[in-house]
Amino acid sequence: MGMLHTRVCDLFGIRHPVLLGGMASGTTPELVAAVSNAGGLGNHGVAGRSPAEVQSIAARIREGTQKPFGLNLLLFMAGEDAVQATLDAHAPVFSTAWPTPEQDLAPLFARAHDAGARVVHMVSTVPEARRAAEAGADAIVAQGTEGGGHVGVMGTIVLVPMVVRAVAPLPVIAAGGIADGAGLAAALMLGADGVLLGTRLLATPESPLPESYRQAICRSDGHDTLLTELPDVIAGRVWPGAYARVLRTGFIQEWLGREGEVRADRAELNRRLQRAREAGDVNNGALLIGQDAGLIDSVRPAASVIESMVAEAEELLTTRPAWVVSPTAPTPLPG
Ligand SMILES: Cc1cc2nc3c(=O)[nH]c(=O)nc-3n(C[C@H](O)[C@H](O)[C@H](O)COP(=O)(O)O)c2cc1C
Repeated sequence: MGMLHTRVCDLFGIRHPVLLGGMASGTTPELVAAVSNAGGLGNHGVAGRSPAEVQSIAARIREGTQKPFGLNLLLFMAGEDAVQATLDAHAPVFSTAWPTPEQDLAPLFARAHDAGARVVHMVSTVPEARRAAEAGADAIVAQGTEGGGHVGVMGTIVLVPMVVRAVAPLPVIAAGGIADGAGLAAALMLGADGVLLGTRLLATPESPLPESYRQAICRSDGHDTLLTELPDVIAGRVWPGAYARVLRTGFIQEWLGREGEVRADRAELNRRLQRAREAGDVNNGALLIGQDAGLIDSVRPAASVIESMVAEAEELLTTRPAWVVSPTAPTPLPG
């Protein structure tokens, strides 16, 4: 059987076209190193971290792996200090998402290139993809609404081929709702050169989530997520163009539609969410996950997730065509 190999493998110097989403609240240096050591591209979210923290995160990743990895910034909340600290860490990949409409991406991407990094930018719409391609990104992540955390409203199966056409010949990486080998194979068939995973890699022993939160991902059937601005209203953030996909916990249920009251009591609600996470209390907390939770039924090491996903995709891409494409012309229907 052949081995999956795409242009993003060459672009990033990785074995498998599988990326870890640079999740600000969902990555650890251990998870990043595990993904990179497994042949994927680990990616650490550093949004909201101080320059000293960014430096120490990069150092801890380098203790765990010699392989390429990325650092991710949420552009709408990244000041000059954060950008400089991230570039100074000299990660092989500079990964970005969610700029404000006013931000000028071209000088930022040029600075990253000058620092020796590849630039990968995540979008949720076709115009955002064109904007990033024109600004000089090396690859575009097209993220559909199925995904966990902050997402737009277009579905992955529609957005990916549209972005592929809009930015050709730039490589596109599909994200949102992908958690198994069938998802990887399907993304490649849509024209993507790889996939980026969030939720699937939160259900690993290397993720920063408490064990009960990881188990909640396994329990979720994927029908119990919803889009809301509640986490951002509570955090006091205005996120350009996004809603947060969260698990419908008791806490979310209680405050949904009551944003005005939430704004009046943000500090207390922040404390409640923090306490719930420390206590491993999912129902009184907030858990950002995607619909693909319905495809995830066990907490497994990141390396095992990536190996089985790639093996399943290779198997499907090799065997399935023979099942669905007849070698001879089909027999005409009677009548
Ligand atoms: C808890 C959480 C935090 C996230 N934080 C970030 C972030 O800081 N930057 C970013 O580019 N994407 C972030 N994402 C989005 C992921 O990178 C990825 O696009 C998404 O999880 C893909 O969908 P999936 O969860 O179905 O795999 C986050 C996702 C989650 C679930």
